[in-house]
Amino acid sequence: MSISTSAPSMRTTTPAMAVWNNREKIAASRSRLQALYEAVDWANDLDLYQWTQWFAIALEFQPDLIVELGRGMGNSTCVFTEAANQLGDCRVVSLCLSPDWDATVKHRVAQVVPDSWFQKLETRTEEILTTDVQALIGDSQRVLVLWDAHGFDMAEFVLGGLLPTLEHRHSFVVMHDISDGRYSRINPSYQGKRLWRGTREGFNREGHSRLYLNYLDTAVEQTIAIVDFISRNGLTLESADHSLQTELSSERISELQNSLEAKFFRLDGHWFYFSLNEKTKGEEIYFPNFQSEIVIQERQARSHVDNDHAQVEQLQGEVNHLKTLLAQAQADTGMANLLKKAWRKYKAFRSR
Ligand SMILES: C[S@@+](CC[C@H](N)C(=O)[O-])C[C@H]1O[C@@H](n2cnc3c(N)ncnc32)[C@H](O)[C@@H]1O
Repeated sequence: MSISTSAPSMRTTTPAMAVWNNREKIAASRSRLQALYEAVDWANDLDLYQWTQWFAIALEFQPDLIVELGRGMGNSTCVFTEAANQLGDCRVVSLCLSPDWDATVKHRVAQVVPDSWFQKLETRTEEILTTDVQALIGDSQRVLVLWDAHGFDMAEFVLGGLLPTLEHRHSFVVMHDISDGRYSRINPSYQGKRLWRGTREGFNREGHSRLYLNYLDTAVEQTIAIVDFISRNGLTLESADHSLQTELSSERISELQNSLEAKFFRLDGHWFYFSLNEKTKGEEIYFPNFQSEIVIQERQARSHVDNDHAQVEQLQGEVNHLKTLLAQAQADTGMANLLKKAWRKYKAFRSR
């Protein structure tokens, strides 16, 4: 399969240029984006200005397929489905284990869009690691990937399972949950916290620091995996913040600020992006090995260890409680013996 040379591929997609080139469409879509944002009602995972940025990226890159890895409550699902509707020749496949979309969010979204809007969207509630990638990508030529499901297992799937399929197509990968310390004012202090040790027991374990890799400020493992991947392959991992803050002239920034309200346009993004197309045709790209059966088996083994660990901790707690009760009982017995002794002495004294 070879890279097609249709018009969109001739221009490099960057967040700043995406927002600038599509400013009129963004302005015209504000009420729709806002209505969807309110229907999702989960700004925690993506704020409105980030909706605008991803919407612009999709319009600019003009994918024929958008693969969403991690739907959660569905912020990105709505952004990309709205973009797919506006692009026309584009569909969204959303993969996630979370049932929230079908259970609650979809019904709210249906209040603000026509039924036909959903024709561009296929939501699958399933394990991403076992996805048949060839079938997923099919003969799509321009694939936008949202990498918003976390952990090393997922990183191995993306880098070793999904990306090799995209090697000879047009690709653009958006990575959420990484901030750019050059622009987001990192506090370098550990603030008395322990080292970052991964997210196995939660997104950002309490009492543990975030992870700073040079200027990458994150709490998710795939940041390590992507730095490894781009380093091996001489690719560029760039931030939305850097693009927005360096590619737009002050006149353009003012124009965007005037034409879009502040909630739709900001110069920070807190996401990064890369594309395999930075490599010239014929240059080798190195991918890690990915075998879903092995990753799943290892994950099950880890979960058994975690369960055993939790049980040991629970037993340890019970043993400590019993020890306290025993010590108390011993103290009570000691006190009772003392009282008995005193009582005997008192009786002996009285009977003299
Ligand atoms: C941060 S949320 C996604 C947020 C979403 N993109 C948005 O904009 O609202 C990550 C989601 O990835 C899902 N996820 C993580 N690992 C997964 C896996 N192995 N298979 C399927 N879903 C997974 C989680 O269930 C969670 O719902």
